[in-house]
Amino acid sequence: MVIPQHVAIILDGNGRWARSKGMPRNYGHVKGAKNLEVICRDASDLGIKYLTVYLFSTENWKRSKEEVDALMKLFRSYTKTCIRMARDNNMKVRILGDPAPLDKDLQESLVKLAESSKNNTGLNFQLAINYGSRDEIVRAVRRLAEDYKEGNLGKEDITEERFASYLDTAEIPDPDLLIRTSGELRLSNYLMWQLAYTEFYFTEVPWPAFTKEDLKKAIEKYNCRERRYGGIDLQENTVGSVKNDQET
Ligand code: IPE
Ligand code: IPE
Ligand code: MG
Repeated sequence: MVIPQHVAIILDGNGRWARSKGMPRNYGHVKGAKNLEVICRDASDLGIKYLTVYLFSTENWKRSKEEVDALMKLFRSYTKTCIRMARDNNMKVRILGDPAPLDKDLQESLVKLAESSKNNTGLNFQLAINYGSRDEIVRAVRRLAEDYKEGNLGKEDITEERFASYLDTAEIPDPDLLIRTSGELRLSNYLMWQLAYTEFYFTEVPWPAFTKEDLKKAIEKYNCRERRYGGIDLQENTVGSVKNDQET
């Protein structure tokens, strides 16, 4: 089976999953964060090199203050757990999104997480927090305009590659596979530049119930698609026999 090099996930459905169990939405977020720890290890075990997850969108501030506060509290403890996980599992963690509106202590923890794991050589793990594609593109254009004004680059230097280097995902290859859990069929402002040629996989399974088996199912489906652009080197990312697993 060909293992996608980069898998991006919109981990959705925490609230609905909790409600279906007669529990408050925040219970779903807590279980969702626990599940992220598990899936992160599973992804690494399966041979995935880059995993990018959507934790909080620029639109998520519109949720109730109570829910936003609970999520921020959860991110604080998750960040601490992630520092340990990155150390123990050799993971390199990067943060996507604009940290400016986050509380100072959370910003500092996120910097510590990225700094302390920057030389690790295992799974590349990207956390999108206060992330929105439109916001990312606007921030990139602002920095590019600044460099243009200072004479660091000319109009003709602005290529797709150069522009991509201003995005939060600079140096990270584009995702090969996008997974969205819990049934919604939309991007919700996630990685719109980077997903130009990515294969999409939608599942009804809500994020807290998503397992390694579900991840494997998504990869199996991915293997049935014929990719035209942006594909990966089959030789390098193959586990087992490609021939037998290509068509089902
Ligand atoms: C995803 O679950 C987690 C975040 C967006 C923070 P939701 O909170 O969106 O759960 P649903 O979609 O309302 O069930
Ligand atoms: C997208 O999920 C954002 C994250 C998973 C963090 P949402 O649940 O916030 O998306 P919408 O509002 O349903 O589009
Ligand atoms: Mg949702």
